[in-house]
Amino acid sequence: MSHSNVEAFFNSVASKWDDWANDDMDRVRALFSQIGIKPGDKVLDLACGTGVVTELLHEFSLAPVHGLDIAENMIVRAKEKYQDKDYASFEVGDFMSYPGEKYDAIVIYNAYPHFLDPKALSSRLAETLNIAGKFAIVHSLGRKQLSAHHDPLGPKISRDLLPVREEAEFFKEEFEVLKADEGEDFYLIIGAKNANV
Ligand SMILES: C[S@@+](CC[C@H](N)C(=O)[O-])C[C@H]1O[C@@H](n2cnc3c(N)ncnc32)[C@H](O)[C@@H]1O
Repeated sequence: MSHSNVEAFFNSVASKWDDWANDDMDRVRALFSQIGIKPGDKVLDLACGTGVVTELLHEFSLAPVHGLDIAENMIVRAKEKYQDKDYASFEVGDFMSYPGEKYDAIVIYNAYPHFLDPKALSSRLAETLNIAGKFAIVHSLGRKQLSAHHDPLGPKISRDLLPVREEAEFFKEEFEVLKADEGEDFYLIIGAKNANV
């Protein structure tokens, strides 16, 4: 696994990212509404890129949202876009060695296949969530669309996802899986941290 490949790739595409992003926010809102983010929840927009969904997460939490991304050029752009929004803050960092604060909810939007070791990700999510905290892996593309999208990037940048119920198994040591659902144009895993973790 090499995070430096992921970092280099996303640094190289950051200036074009917002021209490419054409997410249908109504569809994303409908997916996020299933997470159960409550007003006042402290939310981490993990692998936030340029902050495509940071504003939407704030719509649910009505509280500060923090964005973390390994690619500095993405974060530079996010900071520019949100410079007059008090609720948003952004930071460059690799989540797999992130020493940051704890959160009530961690949302990984359109970024999960770039975390190449899902079991290690599950441990990091558990460490970074408060008691009863939730994580959500959300894609506004289906698994087949995702593979087609990622194949040209090669195995050093992303991995193909398993059928969602099989993929959810990676999280079951630390989480109760509340939802593992997929369709032609979405992929969704939501987990709540086990009390004994
Ligand atoms: C496909 S982009 C999605 C960005 C954003 N969520 C969006 O939907 O526009 C994937 C992002 O994951 C970030 N990323 C990958 N691995 C990471 C890690 N270990 N820690 C933090 N960010 C990471 C990349 O730098 C990249 O910006």
